[in-house]
Amino acid sequence: MDRKLFFLIIMAFFISTFFPGCTTHNAVMTFQKETGQMAHPGIDYLKAIVVYDSWSGNTELIADEIARVLHCPSVKVDNAEEYTMAEYNLIVVGSPVHGGMPTDEIENFLSSLETIHASAVFVTYGAPLFGSFTANRCLDSMEEKLQGTSLGRFKCNGFHKIFLTYPRHPDKEDKSEAALFAAGLMERVPYDNLPEKQLLQQ
Ligand SMILES: Cc1cc2nc3c(=O)[nH]c(=O)nc-3n(C[C@H](O)[C@H](O)[C@H](O)COP(=O)(O)O)c2cc1C
Repeated sequence: MDRKLFFLIIMAFFISTFFPGCTTHNAVMTFQKETGQMAHPGIDYLKAIVVYDSWSGNTELIADEIARVLHCPSVKVDNAEEYTMAEYNLIVVGSPVHGGMPTDEIENFLSSLETIHASAVFVTYGAPLFGSFTANRCLDSMEEKLQGTSLGRFKCNGFHKIFLTYPRHPDKEDKSEAALFAAGLMERVPYDNLPEKQLLQQ
């Protein structure tokens, strides 16, 4: 490899390793659907669940924040079998990015889903330079398994134990963005997804 190119790659690696955590804020949320036309009846009518995987706690932190806003359980994927997914009108699925993909456990969980009313996906990622691209790829592959039900997606940085990138992430700001994401989802859950018996109580 050309020496200059090699030097540039090394420089880029160091810059992205030691500065991004303190210079930029990288949480990004995207919604696939506009807010519903009808006023949503509120949190009491929403039956949501967050299912996540996490090796070192980053994704778990975001999962718990989303679940806090949605007033719902935050369940590690290993324990997801204890819940009947078809009963939930919003399933939010989170994973760390591993080689541009979700973890095997999350992939298996997504493949096992049959009836999905509405869903959303989120990831934390930590690779230098191309991390954001790998996160997008991961989110794409998660959404592909959700049968067109995804209402939105969220990604933010998470400290990478091997590369030591993004120290202290997810940070306070990432958590607030995750909370905003959850609130945005709540507004977008289709009104007609809500269980009939709950709507009758209005
Ligand atoms: C085996 C492994 C593979 C990873 N692959 C990627 C990757 O492809 N892209 C990326 O941006 N981060 C990658 N990361 C970094 C993690 O996605 C990131 O640190 C994440 O926040 C970890 O979340 P967790 O604490 O919930 O496990 C990888 C980490 C590990 C351990």
